[in-house]
Amino acid sequence: MQIIPQPLFPSLVWSTLFDDRAIFNAKLLDLAMRLRESDPAGVDNTNVRGWQSPNNLQNLPEFDDINLRILQVCQRIGESLHFRSDQTYQHQAWVNISPPGASNKIHFHANCHFSGVYYVSAKEPECGSIFFRDPRIASRMMTYPVDKPTEFTAEEILMRPEEGRMYVFPGWLEHGVEENKSDRDRISISFNVLATPIG
Ligand SMILES: [Fe+2]
Repeated sequence: MQIIPQPLFPSLVWSTLFDDRAIFNAKLLDLAMRLRESDPAGVDNTNVRGWQSPNNLQNLPEFDDINLRILQVCQRIGESLHFRSDQTYQHQAWVNISPPGASNKIHFHANCHFSGVYYVSAKEPECGSIFFRDPRIASRMMTYPVDKPTEFTAEEILMRPEEGRMYVFPGWLEHGVEENKSDRDRISISFNVLATPIG
């Protein structure tokens, strides 16, 4: 007897690793530090003990490279999901500088099709992982008697940070970031992307 599982409503996290990450990240690291110097207070959001820039990287020409890549990656994902061809992709992005001891509370991003994070600098795995919470409410009514969690039974799933890697996920997927337990800053760029009709 063959039993075949079939995912019906999967929650996808897309990932890509940039080939030129060493050079690309050195430039981004410098830009991130300058941005913090220009606005040491930053903004309060989900960050605990960390620094976060305003959501305005999309308006800063010095961040054009990462802005373009965010849009390219999300457009490719949109195309893979058969988003209509008359859509244009818009985004907001911001820098996170999370020193040792910093974390991000669990949250989601309303009114966007995709959210994501790109790792500029992180000492893995001690720097803490992004984690996603199971969005299927029914699964929280009871726990499964398992020895080891699987993608189906887990209530939370961790994704390892990696310098040069970008994760993209649906904005509705709840997520947070573990405490940075390494001895250096974890620096990332987060974003939200919305596809809207051209014109
Ligand atoms: Fe987020």
